[in-house]
Amino acid sequence: MKKIGIFYGSTTGTTLEVAQEIARQLDVKAEDVHDVALAAPSAVADYDVLVIGASTWGAGDLQDDMATFLDGLQSLDLEGKEVAIFGCGDDSMSDTFCNSVGEIYHRLHDTKAMFIAPFNNDGYNYQHSDSDVHGMIVGLCIDNVNHADE
Ligand SMILES: Cc1cc2nc3c(=O)[nH]c(=O)nc-3n(C[C@H](O)[C@H](O)[C@H](O)COP(=O)(O)O)c2cc1C
Repeated sequence: MKKIGIFYGSTTGTTLEVAQEIARQLDVKAEDVHDVALAAPSAVADYDVLVIGASTWGAGDLQDDMATFLDGLQSLDLEGKEVAIFGCGDDSMSDTFCNSVGEIYHRLHDTKAMFIAPFNNDGYNYQHSDSDVHGMIVGLCIDNVNHADE
């Protein structure tokens, strides 16, 4: 069976909550859910599937801890690993909605990881998002600020 590790960057706890919910859904143990503020990029070596998520801050900026984590991760060879991306944002920030999902995707592009779990952008409400690549969202974008019920 493939071993799944969840790596999240969260400033006020929303992405942490989503990471824990994903862990419940996928039956991932708490010890395999990592706050990237405390994890070394080399920790990904233990896993076949990496579920990587972060929120968006500032004017479309990647959450700080995830930015630092990716500085290390993006220089590793991730050939053979599958990567699924998620992120939390606020679609009232309509020009930068969940940009972090796109930044994670672009920064890991040269690692040879295989990206899984793209999403259709139907039903989303934004003008622009870096997560939208040719009409597909490259991960799961979640807005718990305005659409917690979804
Ligand atoms: C100052 C500030 C800037 C933000 N900028 C963006 C943004 O550019 N795009 C976006 O989608 N969300 C933005 N957000 C919304 C956060 O990403 C959202 O609240 C998220 O749930 C926070 O997750 P976290 O607690 O895991 O860090 C911003 C929020 C604040 C307070």
